[in-house]
Amino acid sequence: MKAISIGLFGLGTVGSGVVNIIENHQDKLMHQVGCPVKIRKILVQDINKNRGVSVDPLLLTTNPNEILDDPDIDVIIEVMGGIVETKKNIIAALQNGKHVVTANKDLMALHGSELLTVASESGCDLYYEASVAGGIPIIRTLVDGLASDRIVKMMGIVNGTTNFILTKMSQEGKAYQSVLKEAQELGFAESDPTSDVEGLDAARKMTILATLGFSMKIDLEDVKVSGISNISEEDLQYGKQLGYTMKLIGHAHRDGEKVEVSVQPTLLSNRHPLASVNNEYNAIYVYGEAVGETMFYGPGAGSLPTATAIVSDLVAVMKNMRLGVNGKNAVTPQYPKILKDEAE
Ligand code: NAP
Ligand code: HSE
Repeated sequence: MKAISIGLFGLGTVGSGVVNIIENHQDKLMHQVGCPVKIRKILVQDINKNRGVSVDPLLLTTNPNEILDDPDIDVIIEVMGGIVETKKNIIAALQNGKHVVTANKDLMALHGSELLTVASESGCDLYYEASVAGGIPIIRTLVDGLASDRIVKMMGIVNGTTNFILTKMSQEGKAYQSVLKEAQELGFAESDPTSDVEGLDAARKMTILATLGFSMKIDLEDVKVSGISNISEEDLQYGKQLGYTMKLIGHAHRDGEKVEVSVQPTLLSNRHPLASVNNEYNAIYVYGEAVGETMFYGPGAGSLPTATAIVSDLVAVMKNMRLGVNGKNAVTPQYPKILKDEAE
């Protein structure tokens, strides 16, 4: 039985988790898709770097074309980040008939519609569950689980780094800079943590959620964003004395054709369910006209939680391969209204 061959772009925090799950969950993967999964090549920047995961050094390359042009590679998992070069590589992969799984919210928030169109035209899947809220399957929930409902409001904590910082500052009295360093060491923060602390990472995730939840074209530039870099320990302690907890909250609200999306530090009453979501954990409240209130909670960042979402996407791609329905919009989380708008 032929193994599915993977090309992995990136072997950092998330890439290491992907290697770990593919190696240690082979039995589960076999059970799900009926064939083994094998990592054939891994793109990195520095082949000689000491890594927290052990891989055959012969798998490592610094040349993306060794993966993009390899006819035996079925699926590319992109966990290296970046926008311009990464977008080119993903388009090349799709046009070469390779399915793509990505954790890259920067790219999906800005170019998701275009990339999904390329995927569809190439008969390939492009899955991106890990791009929002790490281990919480929120994209599948919006696209499949709540497919029949009209969603009118979403509100949540969608950045693990800032939630970790605010929790440690508020509950342990730690200083902002030292907790940010801790979040970086734990692999929660982006390579440039400015996007975490200034709210841009959360804004990108809210753009993806609002696009899928409301089935409307949402532009990142229309999202009102402010981050936590100016929040002081005094602000947190003052709120605490009054029975409030500071959280970086993403809001998306739809009223007919009007949509508002924002990310801002918010004082929540301690009785609010989001007030007790701590450390790198995320939670998303979704209100649908028919279903009413729902809430999704779990680890929003980190190696294994994020890799779980990626390998689950890989399983979805492999199931589609078995059924011969890749790129047919059957199960891939598409941006339906946008595709329709652009076609008009
Ligand atoms: P990371 O630890 O910095 O790892 C990035 C990896 O990509 C490294 O192995 C690096 O190679 C490689 N790489 C970067 N630029 C490259 C280039 N130009 N050419 C070749 N290789 C390159 O990052 P990460 O935390 O795993 O995040 C990866 C992606 O997942 C990002 O898009 C991030 O936003 C997203 N994400 C992260 C998390 C999380 O909790 N960390 C959660 C959800 C989504 P070297 O190892 O040789 O330096
Ligand atoms: N830097 C991101 C966060 C990683 O802290 O939430 C998960 O997307």
